[in-house]
Amino acid sequence: MINKNAPVGVFDSGVGGLTVMREIMRQIPNERIVYFGDTARVPYGSKSKDTITRYSRQIVRFLQAMEVKAIVVACNTASAYALDELEREVDIPIIGVVKPGARVAAQATVNGKLGVIGTEGTISSGIYTEYIEKINPNITVIGKACPLFVPLVEEGLWQDPVTEDIARRYLGELIDTGIDTLILGCTHYPLIRATVGRLLGEGVSMVNPAYETARELQELLAKEGMLNDTQGKLGEEKYRFYVSDAAEKFRRFANSIIKYGILSAKTIHIEEY
Ligand code: DGL
Repeated sequence: MINKNAPVGVFDSGVGGLTVMREIMRQIPNERIVYFGDTARVPYGSKSKDTITRYSRQIVRFLQAMEVKAIVVACNTASAYALDELEREVDIPIIGVVKPGARVAAQATVNGKLGVIGTEGTISSGIYTEYIEKINPNITVIGKACPLFVPLVEEGLWQDPVTEDIARRYLGELIDTGIDTLILGCTHYPLIRATVGRLLGEGVSMVNPAYETARELQELLAKEGMLNDTQGKLGEEKYRFYVSDAAEKFRRFANSIIKYGILSAKTIHIEEY
């Protein structure tokens, strides 16, 4: 029997998935959320498929122990590498961020030239290209890994000239190809949207998969009759945060993304799951 008032589980390699959680909070404010950030093992973007799949399985087991009703893989790299396996293994709804992002980007492009930026893992998996070509084989997808963006964001240099410099290097070639749409294929990139947008100029639109993922979650829960019908009070009981390390640092960063006052994050031993 589904408990529709059970929380939704959301996980990421660290803080980045909070950009997805923020969208879920905006679009489906009744939902309770258990968030897990794998702060002990971040970054995922430079690790292998096997490792990411093993980590993701452990996190899913943890979230199931928290009795979540559905899971959102809020990490592009984990969605790229592990979602197929997880879907087969888990008996509650589970969605990632890649498919929703790919779908909306395929609709958004007018000239059929689409850029995607992400971690090394996400880009080398070719997953965005695969999904987009399935939707429309006439679209050309050009991927570019931007590994320095994650540490720059985590250092808080969202609007700093150093970020602009690095972005110019990463995006120069991509812009020259004539893309009209760019997927922000990593959880951290919406936080440097302004910097990236300035370089792209007005002719290129940006797609944030977080927005579409929250929409897809809403549709899925509605279809399954699983939308939470109680409002619940804002606070610790409604939104719970767990990490695998450095809870206080996480809490501080999280408060700069989700501005409702996160009081605490608990550390758990994820290797035990
Ligand atoms: N959350 C990761 C992603 O969206 C970025 C950070 C990392 O490399 O772990 O791909």
